[in-house]
Amino acid sequence: MRGDVPVVGREARDESRGTSIPMNENVIDGAAIAARVLDEVRAEVDRLKARGITPGLSVVLVGDDPASAVYVRSKESTSRDVGMAGETIRLGAATTQFELLAIVDRLNASDQVHGILVQMPLPRQIDADLVLRRIRPDKDVDGFHPVNVGKLLIGETDGFVPCTPAGIQYMLEVCGVDTRGAECVVIGRSNIVGKPMAALMMQNGAGADATVTICHSRTRDLSAHTRRADILIVAAGRPQMVTAEMVKPGAVVIDVGMNRIPDSTKKSGSRLVGDVDFERVREVASLITPVPGGVGKMTIAMLMRNTVRAAARAAR
Ligand code: GUN
Repeated sequence: MRGDVPVVGREARDESRGTSIPMNENVIDGAAIAARVLDEVRAEVDRLKARGITPGLSVVLVGDDPASAVYVRSKESTSRDVGMAGETIRLGAATTQFELLAIVDRLNASDQVHGILVQMPLPRQIDADLVLRRIRPDKDVDGFHPVNVGKLLIGETDGFVPCTPAGIQYMLEVCGVDTRGAECVVIGRSNIVGKPMAALMMQNGAGADATVTICHSRTRDLSAHTRRADILIVAAGRPQMVTAEMVKPGAVVIDVGMNRIPDSTKKSGSRLVGDVDFERVREVASLITPVPGGVGKMTIAMLMRNTVRAAARAAR
C-alpha cells in the first residue's frame, strides 16, 4: 500500500533543467541523478580550464581498510572522468600523525590543490579530529572542518556541506519531495552523515524547512519515531535494520548503509546491503533508494561539485 505523502510518481521532474529523472517504479536511480551532477561539474571544469585553472583534488588514504580502498578508487576515477587534476596519496598503516600532518600542510600550501580529502577511518595512532582541523577550511571539500560544520549549522552558504547529506538533499529536490514542514527522521548521529543531515534539513529555505528528529543507538522505541517519518534517512551501519513495519505507508526512505553480508548464492560469498530491508520496505514506501546505486553515487558527485566550487572560489 502506498500512502499520500507529497511525492511524485514514476518520473520526477528536474525543475532546474526541465528534464525528467528515470526511475524504476518507486526506486530512485542515484546513478542517473549523479550522472547529471557530473555533467554540470564537467562543464564547469571546462570553463575553468579555459581560464587556465585546472581544479585539483588530492585524496589521502592511510592504511589498508578494504572498503576505504574501494571508495578512494572511485573518487580517483570520477575526478579523472570529469577532467580534474589530482593525486591519491597512499600511506602505510604505520604512518604517524606527524607524517600525515606534514602532508596536509604541503597540500594546504599548494596552488594546484583546491580540494583535500583524508579518507576516514584513520589508524588508531592518528587523531582524526586533529587532522580534519589541519585542512584549510577553503580546501575542506568533505565539509568536516569545524568552520564548515559551524557554517552549515548557522545557515551560511559559503562553506562546504558534507557530501552524503548534500547528495541526499539534492536527490530529494530532484525527485520533487516536498520537505517543507515534513517530518524528517534521521537514524544515526555520525559527524559524516547523521548530524550534518539533520542540520541541513532543519535550515530555512528550499529543500529544507523540515521538522527533524535524530535517532541513535540509545533511542527508546525507535519504531515510534520512524513510523511518524514522511522522510526517513537511515545511516545506522546495521544491515537491514529498518523493516517494513517501521515505515509509514507513503514515506520516502533514503538508505545510506553499505554493509557486506554473507551470501552463499554469490560467487564472492557475500553481497552488499543497506540499512533497510529493501525488498519489503519498497512495498510500503513511495520512494526508496537502492544499495548499491543510490546514495553512494551521489556522495562522489557532490565531492566533485565541492571541488570545482573550491577551485572557482580560489580563482576569484
Ligand atoms: N569515510 C566514509 N565516508 C567518508 C567521506 O565522505 N569522507 C571521508 N573523508 N571519509 C569517509
